Amino acid sequence: MKWKLHRFGGVSSTMEAAGKFAEEGAEEGTIVLAETQTSGKGRLGRKWYSPPDGLYLSLILRPKIAPASAQMITFMSAVAAAKALRRYGLDAMIKWPNDVLIDERKVCGILTEISLSLNSINYVIIGIGMNVNSEPSKDLKGTATSIKEELKKEVDREELLKRLLEELEAQYTLLLGEFHSILGEWKRLSATLRKNVRVEMQREVIEGEAVDVNENGLILKLQDGSFRTIIAGDCIHIR
Ligand code: BTN
Repeated sequence: MKWKLHRFGGVSSTMEAAGKFAEEGAEEGTIVLAETQTSGKGRLGRKWYSPPDGLYLSLILRPKIAPASAQMITFMSAVAAAKALRRYGLDAMIKWPNDVLIDERKVCGILTEISLSLNSINYVIIGIGMNVNSEPSKDLKGTATSIKEELKKEVDREELLKRLLEELEAQYTLLLGEFHSILGEWKRLSATLRKNVRVEMQREVIEGEAVDVNENGLILKLQDGSFRTIIAGDCIHIR
């Protein structure tokens, strides 16, 4: 993959900047990287706190896969991010659908935006935010961590970016080839499977044991023994 990096000091959100590039026809592999974001976007309409000393990037891909398989792109990004962190000896695990945790505290969040044209994917923008040498926001203490906090030292963000892009490239190659191996990798790194979880959806909250994941979502075994597949929502690990 030929990555094409566009570096910015401050932006509102790298998702917006990358969206503009993509709409103008930017090639697959185009990346927007920013030092800080004033309106960093999180999943489910949340904000993403983006102080200096983190890693904030959005990358454009144009995968030739069916729109129904788009969820795999989210999975492969989480696998790549967890593997990049594991290269530092950190015990990074994935919380469904795509948060990366260390010891149950979030170190990395991923947001995927997809543009469809008819029955194919026009482009995908993968936004990755990592807490690197920053202190997690005070109101997130207990639920968030940073690489610095875990390793008790700062890491070189250029080296981290390099490792992340190497892992993304490797996972993307897998995705375009043996599609299902991504799921295997995701399951191996999952902090959610075999846990009792509560998933908050727009109109419903549901609890159960996370027993499996497939391209349609997370499979929960409910108390009455029945199974439910959850496509999207906010997942809380109970135990
Ligand atoms: C989440 O966990 O809710 C997803 C957070 C994604 C944050 C990243 S930072 C880079 C990119 N630009 C954004 O505005 N958001 C994503």
